[in-house]
Amino acid sequence: MDSEALYRALEQRVGRAHLAHRLHMQSHWVARVMGHGLTYFHIENMLWLHWLIRLSLKLTGLYARGRRNALHAVVRRNPVVLPRLGAEFNGFTILQISDLHLDITPGMADAIAAAVAPLQYDLCVLTGDFRSRTHGSTHPVLEAMARLRKTLRGEVYAVLGNHDFIEMVLPMEEMGIRLLMNESVLLKRGDSTVCLAGVDDPHFYEADNVQKAAAHLEQGVPSVLLAHSPEIYRKAAACGFDLLLCGHTHGGQICLPGGIPLFINARAPLRMVRRSWQYRGMQGYTSVGTGCSGVDVRFWCPPEVTLHTLTSIPDPSAS
Ligand SMILES: [Fe+2]
Repeated sequence: MDSEALYRALEQRVGRAHLAHRLHMQSHWVARVMGHGLTYFHIENMLWLHWLIRLSLKLTGLYARGRRNALHAVVRRNPVVLPRLGAEFNGFTILQISDLHLDITPGMADAIAAAVAPLQYDLCVLTGDFRSRTHGSTHPVLEAMARLRKTLRGEVYAVLGNHDFIEMVLPMEEMGIRLLMNESVLLKRGDSTVCLAGVDDPHFYEADNVQKAAAHLEQGVPSVLLAHSPEIYRKAAACGFDLLLCGHTHGGQICLPGGIPLFINARAPLRMVRRSWQYRGMQGYTSVGTGCSGVDVRFWCPPEVTLHTLTSIPDPSAS
């Protein structure tokens, strides 16, 4: 598809205003301006700091260990009780993979494929940040995504993160990954329905439209919202979503012993920057990420793939 046809198709898909906003903000990344509020001052944008951290780790002999840590994802299990869940969805399991940043860590796609191969799941969701570079060609990361997609079973849904360009939407859909751009779909099993919605990146692009994503929520139908960052928690709860699945924070990625994060780049309460949390009746889960950002190491914060199992009643054996 030539670029004119691509942008015409994207305009039809997301609307002229959304596309114009996205492209305007992307030009900021490309120009390395990055002067967008708090984002400018964050570690992700300080390339000199990445170099310094890498050098310090090499001098102290910790770099190789940090890189090994980054490639060993753990499997986290998160039971989710949804009172309105239909019987056919009882036990329905969603595999969440987040913050892949496939272009920064050699071997990441293969490591993730190996981690998820033995897992049983009904649906896979990808909560953004497929690449790390925020300028240049998207082809390398799309090639890695295509390889990874072949290893994932069943339907795959995704949302874009603050490192992803809108031009990635259609190529990813061609490889069988359905992007939710402030959109929703209804998942059906017998007589039961779950609404799955997703928003464009709320962090850097502020391109989320939670209300639009919630347009097809129905009374009595459980709903799951995908977003790159937990920063939309208030809007998500106000629109009536039951569950918000997100990532972006990396849980700090380089932490102190005990998993105490040194940096968190999200305008959300600290309790929402990793794993499960609740807000006004809405359940949330923030993945600490499967990949790495900035520097390809992890300390005291292992990468994860997450299995969310939906149940309509609490499991007594879990208490
Ligand atoms: Fe992110």
